[in-house]
Amino acid sequence: MTATHVRTCHHGKRDIVLSSQIATFVKGNGKPIIMVHGFALDHRMWIKQVDELAEKYRVITLDVPGCGSSPLPQSDVTIPSLAGAIMQRIDGLLGQEPAVFIGLSMGGYIGWEMLRRNPGRFQAAIMCDTRAAADSVATADGRRQMAKNVLLEGTESVMSPMLLRLISEQTYKHQPETVELMRSMLLGTAPQTISSLQLAMASRYDFQNELGNFSLPILLICGSEDILTPPKEMKRMADRLPQARFVEVSEAGHMAPLEKPEVVNAEIMSFLQANHFG
Ligand code: MLT
Repeated sequence: MTATHVRTCHHGKRDIVLSSQIATFVKGNGKPIIMVHGFALDHRMWIKQVDELAEKYRVITLDVPGCGSSPLPQSDVTIPSLAGAIMQRIDGLLGQEPAVFIGLSMGGYIGWEMLRRNPGRFQAAIMCDTRAAADSVATADGRRQMAKNVLLEGTESVMSPMLLRLISEQTYKHQPETVELMRSMLLGTAPQTISSLQLAMASRYDFQNELGNFSLPILLICGSEDILTPPKEMKRMADRLPQARFVEVSEAGHMAPLEKPEVVNAEIMSFLQANHFG
């Protein structure tokens, strides 16, 4: 990692740190919360959480390598390599200070790796619209196909059809600013990033049989209309985790924190308080 620059962004006027590898955005004081976004998105997906959480906590959002302002590494990426790079960045900011992890979907895949490799560093975790299982053969094949297609056809042709699968019908009809933000993040992602992240997700580890080893408190949040990581599957994960709470958010799709922030923020705050964080 080389130079560090200070920048401003939508999160406000202070504490924005951009390393040459992983763009990191810090707001608020107090115990740290680390938030990792989903596939082909960036730190802006947490826009509806940051201000409220920052009233009490130090909220650290970031852009996964290749997304937002973070460059894609020259070498192939894997979910463990992304987890390692993010952890290195977090260590640089926090030292060994315990934190809470929050991730959505691909951010959750990265999160399982971070939690497994760094037991004791995380006091609690919140997994939104994600899964612990690896891909089926058919899903992994589909990802490899998309990884090729996007390099030939460009971002828009593969990502435009994704939008409707990511949010609920209600969100699509009634929240034009959410639709616009999603479109801007998805279409702003470079074809090479989409390709590399799809290949990384296709070969990710299956955590299903390890869920029993995650002894920290974990809140699982899922939109009732999530067709990519459905509530049924997240409920099964909750049943296998030693200390889990499962919350289904009605009228939300795969982007529950962005679609229904009032419900999600209230759940996050009460979970953190119940677990003596902050
Ligand atoms: C995401 O939102 O990160 C994706 O749905 C993850 C995936 O493709 O499995």
